[in-house]
This record gives sequence, structure tokens and C-alpha cells, in this order.
Amino acid sequence: MAKSYPYQYLNTRIKSEEYVERRETLMAHMADNSIAILPSATLQIRSNDTEYKFRQDSDFNYLTGFLEPDSVLVLVPGREKGEVIYFCREKDPDKELWDGYREGPEGLCASYGADDAFPINDIDDILPGLLESRERVYYAMGRRPEFDQRIMNWLNALRATARNGSHPPGEFSDLNHLLHDMRLFKSRPELKLMQAAADISCMAHNHAMATCEPGMYEGQLEAEYLHQFGVRGAPAAAYNTIVGAGANACVLHYVENNQKISDGDLVLVDAGCEFQSYASDISRTFPANGKFTKAQQAIYEIVLEAQYAAIDATVAGNHWDDPHNQSVRVIGQGLLDLGLLEGDLNEIIETEKYKEFYMHRVGHWLGMDVHDVGDYKICDEWRVLEPGMVMTVEPGIYISPSNKGVKAKWRGIGIRIEDNVVVKRKGNDVITSAAVKTVADVEKQMAKARTSKSSKNKLGVSKAKKSVQKKARAKKASPKTKASKKTLAKKIKTKKRAAIKKRKKS
Ligand code: GLY
Ligand code: MN
Ligand code: MN
Repeated sequence: MAKSYPYQYLNTRIKSEEYVERRETLMAHMADNSIAILPSATLQIRSNDTEYKFRQDSDFNYLTGFLEPDSVLVLVPGREKGEVIYFCREKDPDKELWDGYREGPEGLCASYGADDAFPINDIDDILPGLLESRERVYYAMGRRPEFDQRIMNWLNALRATARNGSHPPGEFSDLNHLLHDMRLFKSRPELKLMQAAADISCMAHNHAMATCEPGMYEGQLEAEYLHQFGVRGAPAAAYNTIVGAGANACVLHYVENNQKISDGDLVLVDAGCEFQSYASDISRTFPANGKFTKAQQAIYEIVLEAQYAAIDATVAGNHWDDPHNQSVRVIGQGLLDLGLLEGDLNEIIETEKYKEFYMHRVGHWLGMDVHDVGDYKICDEWRVLEPGMVMTVEPGIYISPSNKGVKAKWRGIGIRIEDNVVVKRKGNDVITSAAVKTVADVEKQMAKARTSKSSKNKLGVSKAKKSVQKKARAKKASPKTKASKKTLAKKIKTKKRAAIKKRKKS
């Protein structure tokens, strides 16, 4: 199993210098005499007293690389005693025995670039002092109501002592604005991690095509993906996996994954792993029995052509909207050609009639979050694509099973093809191209798997092994065979004697 790991990536990490650089860049963009406050994620209850597996907040992770809950990063540019301050859980041998290692304030100073670090339980005593006499606070208000309330409490406490000469900050700025623009542009090490996530997810998609067969349940196919992610070093999916067979593919966020996959179904799978905090997001649609029907193939080819056109438009200098517009044109024309829509291309685009079949946009930013941060418009204009941005390109056509306005053969077909694309200085890089996607390649991938499967019986015994077993059975049965040979010889003898007697008589 170890052979399956993409060894070349396992040691790829964001280095501590990059975190230093990120914090310095953020501080350089902050106003004079300001402070930024970023809380980490906290553990969330899943059921009674058990929690969901912890995942660090992406903003906090981006600036620190520190993966423990109950932590807070405070940046105070220009503070003489140190600009980078952390609050975190204290070391505690008893708690560490149950819940695992803690860095503690000492570890943050030693390994995470803290100038000062304090126990999280002391934050109420220390933070108001850091806020005092700062004019502006950068904070992502509204994301964590309970932390918003604590900030308000600290400010109110300072306001209450204003008569004694304290100067509480008077202005608030949205931290997201600065930070999310930084996160939108991926560095080389980030792109390496995204390539690793993409590679693992591609292998999982190719494996799933080899595994899928009519009669399986959607959830069993989902399990194949999660297994592939795990054994290849990515312990989590970046989002809930969608496995929609037949008409379930027409439900955009279908995650029940509990129906049987039938012969003749297409299966739409939207699945991607998270590798060292970076997401991949891939959709493939394939025929459960390994062969597209003519109707399925006709729709598939339109989606694929739309995706190629959109990918071609995902280049520096184009606007965010250009790839989407390209996909709309190809899908609109394809639907007209097949008679699923009537009229003229410009008209169905203006009237948005195509939205009956293609109701979502072509993609989104991708990074630490699957729907990654970053503005799509600047001053009401679609953003210009620049090198280092990463986005998905995922057109689709979904024909409702209850659409009486189209011929029965089209109903219930749902197809999405999704890849992850890095905008480069020249052109782009489709980092998920290893997941097969042309009709010929998908059918070949599935046929290859079927050939090797058909040489196995249901218990997974190969033909060669089966013939050895047959010979062994024959050998075991040989006395019985000898006995039946004797009986036959006796019968022949008796018949021969009777014939001789008959001849003699005549
Ligand atoms: N997997 C979610 C999406 O494609 O946006
Ligand atoms: Mn997706
Ligand atoms: Mn997506």
C-alpha cells in the first residue's frame, strides 16, 4: 500500500519563512497605529460530547501554520516589544495525555515566529492593553459571533476607563479585504501542494471508473474515493463528495449517495481531497456500464467542448467572466443543435433560456478553501485574471427527469466536467488533467478494468487460479470417474454379446 503514496510531495511544506513573509506583507498594508486580531477555529460538537475532527480556520492557518484550536494571533505593527503575539492553550500533561500534544506559548515562540505568546486564559487581561491607543482594528466581524462579543467587551471596558486617559480604537476595518487578496495569489510552494491534492484526486477518479459497475450503491463508490484519498496521504475530502447516479446527477448538491447504480446510468462524481490544507475539486461523469449511449455521448461532448473553450479563456488579461461566457456560448449552441432549445444563440443567451439546463457559473476560486476567498469584482467590474490565481472550470448540462418539453431520451441526463486551472504568465496549467475525461479515454479506462475483472469470478479468483482448482477437483473425483468408465465398458460388452447371439440365430 505504501507504494501508492505520492512520495515526491510528502515532505512539501510551507516553510516558516513564508509565514513570516505573509505576516509582514499584511502588516505592511495595515494603516499606521493599527492592530489585527485573528482567532483560530474552535472544536465543534458533532453529537452529545463528541466533536467533529478539527480543521483549522484557513485565514489563521495561512498566517501561522499553527493547527491547534483555541488560539488567537494578534499583529501589532510597529510595537517595539514585538509585533507578533499569540494566545494559545497552555501545556498540560494531564490534558495532553487524553487529547494530544500542545505547543504551549514556549513552542509558539520557538517554532511559529511569536515575539510574545500567552496562555489563552489570560487574553481578557492582556488584549485590552494591546488595543489601547491603537486607532484602527482589523478584524473579520460577523464570522464568529461569540468572539465578536468578546472584542466588543474589551472595547467597552476600555471606553469605560476613557476618563482615566485610555484611548480605545475608533475605527474598524474588515481584515478579509487585505488578507483574502493575498490568499488569492498562490506562491510556488502553495501550487506544489495544490498539485499534490490534484494528483491524489485524479488517481481516485481513475480508480473509481475502474471500480464502478451497475448494482453498486452510490455510497460504495464514495467509499472508494475516501479510501484512495486516505491511503495516498490526504486524510480528508475537501468537501462533501457528490455521487449522483442517473437522475440524481441533476441535483447539483446531491450528497445523500444512497441509491443503487443501474445499468445504463451515468454517474456524476464531484470529489476532491484536501492535502496539507489545500483543496482540489474535480467532477467526472461516466457510464456505469462502461459505454455511453448515443444520447449521453451527445450531451457529454457539448459539456466537454464548453469546458475546453472555457479553459482556453482562463488566461491572464481576460476577465473573470470570459471563461463563463465561452461556456455559455458552446452549451447554448449545442442545445440548439440537438433541438433541446429553439431560436437563435444570441437570443437564448440574452433571455437566459440556457439556464434551464446550465444554471450555475463556470467556476470559483480554489485554494485552502474549496470555494476560496478573493473578490470576483473590483469596483463593479469583473476582475482581470492574473498569474498565480487558481480556479475551477466546471460547466454542466442537467436535464430534469420531469422535463416534458424535451424528448424522453434526454430526460434525467446530468453531466458536469470539472478541472482545476492555474493562470500562468503565458497560458494556464490544468493541474487535474491526469483524470481521464474524453469519451474514448473514459470508455478505455472502464474497458481496461472490465477486462481484468472479467477474468475473475465473483470471489476475485483469477482464471489461472480457477483452472488449477478445476484440475484439483477432477483429480479428487477420479475414482468416481473410473467407476463410471467400468459401468460403461460392462454395458458395451453386454450389448456386443447380445448382437453376436442375434447374428448366430439368424
Ligand atoms: N464541489 C463543489 C463545487 O464544485 O463547487
Ligand atoms: Mn466540484
Ligand atoms: Mn467546484
